[in-house]
Amino acid sequence: MEEKDKMEKIISLAKRRGFIYQGSEIYGGLAGTWDYGPLGVELKNNIKNLWWKMFVKSRDDMYGLDAAIIMNPKVWESSGHVATFADPLDDGRKFNTMFKTTVGAGEEATVSYLRPETAQGIFANFKNIVDSFHPKLPFGIGQIGKAFRNEIAPRDFIFRSREFEQMEVEYFVKESEWEKAFDMWRSEMHKWMDAIGLTKAAVHELEVPGEDRAHYSKRTIDFEFDFPFGRKELYGLAYRTDYDLGAHAKGSGVALEYFDEETGERTTPHVIEPSLGVERTLLAVLVSAYTEDEQNGEVRAFLKLPKALAPVKAAVFPLLKNKPELVAKAREIFETLKASVGDIAWDDNGNIGKRYRRQDEIGTPVCITIDFDTLGENPELLNTVTVRDRDTGEQKRVNIDELDGLLSSK
Ligand code: GAP
Repeated sequence: MEEKDKMEKIISLAKRRGFIYQGSEIYGGLAGTWDYGPLGVELKNNIKNLWWKMFVKSRDDMYGLDAAIIMNPKVWESSGHVATFADPLDDGRKFNTMFKTTVGAGEEATVSYLRPETAQGIFANFKNIVDSFHPKLPFGIGQIGKAFRNEIAPRDFIFRSREFEQMEVEYFVKESEWEKAFDMWRSEMHKWMDAIGLTKAAVHELEVPGEDRAHYSKRTIDFEFDFPFGRKELYGLAYRTDYDLGAHAKGSGVALEYFDEETGERTTPHVIEPSLGVERTLLAVLVSAYTEDEQNGEVRAFLKLPKALAPVKAAVFPLLKNKPELVAKAREIFETLKASVGDIAWDDNGNIGKRYRRQDEIGTPVCITIDFDTLGENPELLNTVTVRDRDTGEQKRVNIDELDGLLSSK
């Protein structure tokens, strides 16, 4: 499959099956904005939940945060964004890509910005978290949330959008320990990319040279991914030094320090930042998962999504829709699994082969079919169903009691 074809197939599948729609489509769209349909929102939530679990919840050195999108404009002056968060226009002028807005009414109104990164909400809450939790260094604060950039040229589907989400960690360390923490997060990012099923050979590390690094960074690795439109930045890992805490301490007049009880020293911690975009993750996941093979002499397209990310974990089918006893049994199984597992689909439309194709295309790991043997036509098979695997197409007979365990296992 040609790379260009692959991108077109993914975009068309995403729209047709309710993952991703163009923003404001009925009005001709709004460049750089996208709406996530019923399956897209589930896939996105599964990505965010897995990140939260791996980067925040499963660790004892991490704290979660959900800061406001609109902050005091002084935040963006101190951080350097008002002065430097700009891209060059064609004629050589610089264009600041922060979205401006006004806060308040009439004469009281002040200009502020929609945050272009979630990171500053974390730095602005450093003292709050230290005061509430007294964490020992090293520790980190993680946040998932919207970020906005008035990109001059949004492009490549959801890759470069004007409204997107970030999953960021600011990890605070003693200056002498920054390299250790940098390596630790580098390997955590690789574990993450494995967990979400990215094609290993498509991921590349790029050591960003000094002249290309952001103003705050002493070292940055970009994790690049081979998208169908070229090798592009997927994530960043940066050593932000004590730049941000120092800048906010100066700008706000509030000390943003760490008191080391053992040595009695007050220091400004240094920061390692793994920064991940949700939409670029979603796109890299789709690109890695999209597969075509041949089944029964026909080309089949399917999403080989890891189970944790699949928007639908299993689909339940009655073999025939016009047999009330089959439908009733299938409905009972569907309701039970829906209550325990959650993301379960129902489909009684068309022949079984077509129903398999529909589920394959959205990445449903298994399909469960209820037939006359389930009802005891063959007494040996009473209370068993057919479970069909998305990737291999293999089918096996499984007792109804085993379904719950089968679906909740990895
Ligand atoms: N706090 C650091 C920071 O914001 P960045 O490299 O500008 O660094 C981090 O952005 C990540 O956010 C990128 O690696 C990418 O995953 C995502 N990202 C940035 N701009 C984006 C855009 N216009 N559309 C979609 N994702 C974007």
